[in-house]
Amino acid sequence: MMNNIYKEKILILDFGSQYTQLIARRVREAQVYCEIHPFHISLQKIREFAPKGIILSGGPASIYDKDAPLADKGIFDLDLPLLGICYGMQYITHILDGHVAKAVDREYGSATIRIQKKQGLFHGFDFTKEEIVWMSHGDRIDQMPGGFISLARSRNSPVAAMGDYNRQIFGVQFHPEVAHTPNGTKVFKNFLFHICGCQPSWTMASFARQTIQDLKQKIGDDHVICGLSGGVDSSVTAVLLHEAVGERLSCIFVDNGLLRRGESQEVAELFQGRYSMDFHLVDASERFLGNLKGVTDPEEKRKIIGRTFISVFEEKAKELGKARYLAQGTLYPDVIESVSLKGPSATIKSHHNVGGLPDVMKLDLVEPLRELFKDEVRQVGIELGLPKELVMRQPFPGPGLAVRILGEITPERLEILQSADAILLEEIRQADLYEKVWQSFAILLPVRTVGVMGDERTYENVIAIRVVDSLDAMTADWTRVPYEILARISNRIINHVRGVNRVVYDISSKPPSTIEWE
Ligand code: XMP
Repeated sequence: MMNNIYKEKILILDFGSQYTQLIARRVREAQVYCEIHPFHISLQKIREFAPKGIILSGGPASIYDKDAPLADKGIFDLDLPLLGICYGMQYITHILDGHVAKAVDREYGSATIRIQKKQGLFHGFDFTKEEIVWMSHGDRIDQMPGGFISLARSRNSPVAAMGDYNRQIFGVQFHPEVAHTPNGTKVFKNFLFHICGCQPSWTMASFARQTIQDLKQKIGDDHVICGLSGGVDSSVTAVLLHEAVGERLSCIFVDNGLLRRGESQEVAELFQGRYSMDFHLVDASERFLGNLKGVTDPEEKRKIIGRTFISVFEEKAKELGKARYLAQGTLYPDVIESVSLKGPSATIKSHHNVGGLPDVMKLDLVEPLRELFKDEVRQVGIELGLPKELVMRQPFPGPGLAVRILGEITPERLEILQSADAILLEEIRQADLYEKVWQSFAILLPVRTVGVMGDERTYENVIAIRVVDSLDAMTADWTRVPYEILARISNRIINHVRGVNRVVYDISSKPPSTIEWE
């Protein structure tokens, strides 16, 4: 009998904290499956989900706000362990008739707490030492509900953590999910293993095994089509499906002519060569470039690329015929974002997926990665034996180099950018930075500047270099690439790429800038 990795689950109720996804990551890293749902999920749904414990996230609201987010009080009658973090703890206090003191000042940043009670949440912690934790709260607990005792104190609050051992309800004022709380993982592990009684069974090897099994069942004798982009998500999706249904999977790779140098050959070699998949490379570069001729507006470019992609893909899929399913590499963060639209934080990020395809094509979707975070997908890729270069590949936008050629896209300008980008990537890899940074790429600007080469005055293109550090692309900072490496990149580009006489380095963070220039 297969070990069911979805059997032991933790529910995370989202009250709108910017850190909610981090809570889920910490739980998953402890090898326990969890899902994030908005705070207003019904009791009925919670019962169906059947978690072994519930974590209540933080959030920007005060419990005294008119529209303060409130979960169904019935969660206290489910006889399940609860852990409230920051606002989650204040919510617990408020509902169970303790008292939350309204903030005079916000406490924000690093603080120290002293553990007073080692059972349960702080199992294995050292009493005698101060613990460093990250605080970010306004209101605080000034009277615990009946049955609770204080488990830790800080200089600013006598109740930095509290617990009711009978009912197995706990609260922490600090944020154990952020890296600035060095022993935060230990707090989660204690909650999961000692309090909820979970086992660490969520591993990517077991995920891969179970998913292949599930896909076999779901797809039966039908056929599946998968669009490959060369990125890690669609590649892992394809390999999982290939393991499940073999030659009843057909992969379509559309070369839109906007890829990096050598990319389509690499993808073909891997999937057609090594995996012997039913792989179809459609070289549509002329069609894309034809449709983009004369277009300079970035939104217009995106629309044209999206539309052209759908037509090309649809035509090829029709030609292959007989498929019932369309596979997509949708990841968990895309799924959560659409759920929390209903919640208070409503962080909306719409771009990126090739939306529209399933509707047009009347195919049922299979999305085997929709429960996974990016780092988990990479881990699955490694389990499945995908090459490390592919698994660790930096993100690359769907519209490809089109968002990095400002102004008109012509074959000549593409050639300039591809050459410059290839040099940049080679140097970044050489300097062992490729996997350390979030993205590193070149941009071709729509201006020309004056230069001098030999005795000649030149008037040529400018290449901008963008290298950024980020955790999730929502925020990013420019990487402090050592000067010597920047110097080599600049020298090589100017000396070898015809049509470029200047290289500049982008030193803007996101926000207020974005990662891509468009
Ligand atoms: P921005 O430029 O918004 O980019 O800071 C954030 C991240 O998203 C990537 N990006 C895209 N990815 N299709 C994609 O698949 C797109 O249209 C697209 N636009 C931006 C970008 O490379 C960065 O990692």
